[in-house]
Amino acid sequence: MCGIIGYVGPQGTDVTSILLDGLSKLEYRGYDSAGIAVLTSTGTLELHRRAGKIANLAATVIDASPPTSGTLGIGHTRWATHGRPSDDNAHPHPDCTGLITVAHNGIIENYAELRHELEQSGHIFRSETDTEVLSHLIEQAYTAEAEHDLSTAVRLALQQVVGSYAIAVVSSEQPDLLVGARCNGPLIVGMGEHEQFLASDIPAILKHTRRVIILDDGEVVALRAESVTITRLDGTPVERRPITIEWDSEAAEKGGYPHFVLKEIYEQPQALRRALAGRIREGRLHLSELESIQGLLAGIQRIVIVACGTSYHAGLLAKYVIEQWARIPVEAITAAEFRYCDPIVGPETLCIAVTQSGETADTLVGIRQARERGAPVIAITNVVASAITRLSDAVLYLQAGPEIGVVATKTFVTSVAVLYLLGLYLGQQQGRITSEQMREFVTALERLPEQIEHILTQASGPEDQIAPLAKRMSQVSSMMFIGRGVGFPTALEGALKLKEISYIHAEGFPAGELKHGSIALLDPDTPLFGIATASHVYEKVVSNIQEVRARDARVMVIATEGDEKIRQHAHDVLYVPATLEAFSPLLAIIPLQLFAYHAAVARGCNVDQPRNLAKSVTVE
Ligand code: F6R
Repeated sequence: MCGIIGYVGPQGTDVTSILLDGLSKLEYRGYDSAGIAVLTSTGTLELHRRAGKIANLAATVIDASPPTSGTLGIGHTRWATHGRPSDDNAHPHPDCTGLITVAHNGIIENYAELRHELEQSGHIFRSETDTEVLSHLIEQAYTAEAEHDLSTAVRLALQQVVGSYAIAVVSSEQPDLLVGARCNGPLIVGMGEHEQFLASDIPAILKHTRRVIILDDGEVVALRAESVTITRLDGTPVERRPITIEWDSEAAEKGGYPHFVLKEIYEQPQALRRALAGRIREGRLHLSELESIQGLLAGIQRIVIVACGTSYHAGLLAKYVIEQWARIPVEAITAAEFRYCDPIVGPETLCIAVTQSGETADTLVGIRQARERGAPVIAITNVVASAITRLSDAVLYLQAGPEIGVVATKTFVTSVAVLYLLGLYLGQQQGRITSEQMREFVTALERLPEQIEHILTQASGPEDQIAPLAKRMSQVSSMMFIGRGVGFPTALEGALKLKEISYIHAEGFPAGELKHGSIALLDPDTPLFGIATASHVYEKVVSNIQEVRARDARVMVIATEGDEKIRQHAHDVLYVPATLEAFSPLLAIIPLQLFAYHAAVARGCNVDQPRNLAKSVTVE
């Protein structure tokens, strides 16, 4: 939610191009407006801001002048919270004197009272954003107390701020200094040769460097071409060594695919292999990440999985399998509800936070509350050192690699896989899984990547059914998805994928629940997807599908290879390879992702950046 980029380096650098390129890698974080501010070689701050996508901004910048060179600049891509998307509300925001300019990701909760105080003392505001308060506040501290030292001014100003932020700040008086700070918003430093970068996420700087420092909450960083100095808000120095990022810059490029979403769907076998690698060896499970909390896990009587959206669907799947494998009661709850339901959790309840971004505000707030009540917390996330990892007793990383498409695909599959590994671990710890059963599970898990490859290979070949089907269905206005057992969360996820990228209204239901009301929606113009892979409830699902056929609805089915019988109940059948029932969602979801993708493309939607969405949702 909002992306920030900052650069400081030698005189004469094409700062504009560096900022625009960095922003293009962050566009998934917000795409309703964008802007850059560059300190030129002549010492003036050039500001360009535009409503709309980064391409709009790039066009104006290029029209206005050749790329501005200089030493320093900041950029921002916005997902609006305070103030509608417009040129004026786009970041960066200068204060009224033009001395201080700020790009901000987050929300300043006490902005109304700060703005009132600043206006009383003569500051004139030009936008409706909470961010502009920061520019004025920093300018006030800069001129009044900080003796024109930008880092000191930022520290003093932030001491008055309540809320969440990641900021990049420049002063037109200090062309060699870029200052950043964070509190509950992601911010990293990229360390280059004679140049430094600031960014919301790693892909924005991968082209330039893989040496990265991940800032902590309450830290302020001063970047100069040759140095990086970190302090806490009270001025205490902080020592932090850079880490080396393993991904290469190509991981954040489309690599010949028309969209990131399609590339990421096709990356799922590899992502899954990475998620399993090292955790399954010689037919056995090794979750070394949990060794340090074995004592905490031994005492748990209940599990609560806290997550949002697609991550919540992964959590719902885990509920089915963990209860079966470990016989521990599991509740999966959406984080925004968990937070306000006065949850009954304590040391006996293991809380599992599932969040690919590691930043989702609802999940963070919920987990903070669980911790306050003494619950042990395991985080499942894709982002190294993200906010959730600091709130957790142990972290299981997805190892999915960067996911740039706003909708979750490979992070869904890897979240499910990692949750399942955790379930097997707990089952083993509870003495509920024999070594023979474990071998069977592990063998099935290890086959999944190649089975997904098989589905993807078929979908790329001349016999592909998914793209033509999606094209045919792309003009409907509503669709339903049904499933039972693990097929139910699969139906929810299939529906979410379709609605968020194609804007076709779609709902997922437990197949047996349909007849209790929602079946009234069915008619010949409302197609339905049934998840009818081999399972102990297969016959029941088939009966529910028959009920749907009787209402003349068009029925499409995901079924297991070899199931010819299902053909008599469905207009279209998409087959997936056979696996254990528990693992079937990891295969069934692939055709549903592809269906959503092709339907969206047929409707001309922006698949990588669906309207109104952002990759990480850092507001409650
Ligand atoms: C859907 C999607 C969202 C996220 C949700 C939680 O494709 O991506 O529903 O799953 O916003 O995000 P994380 O997992 O980052 O907490």
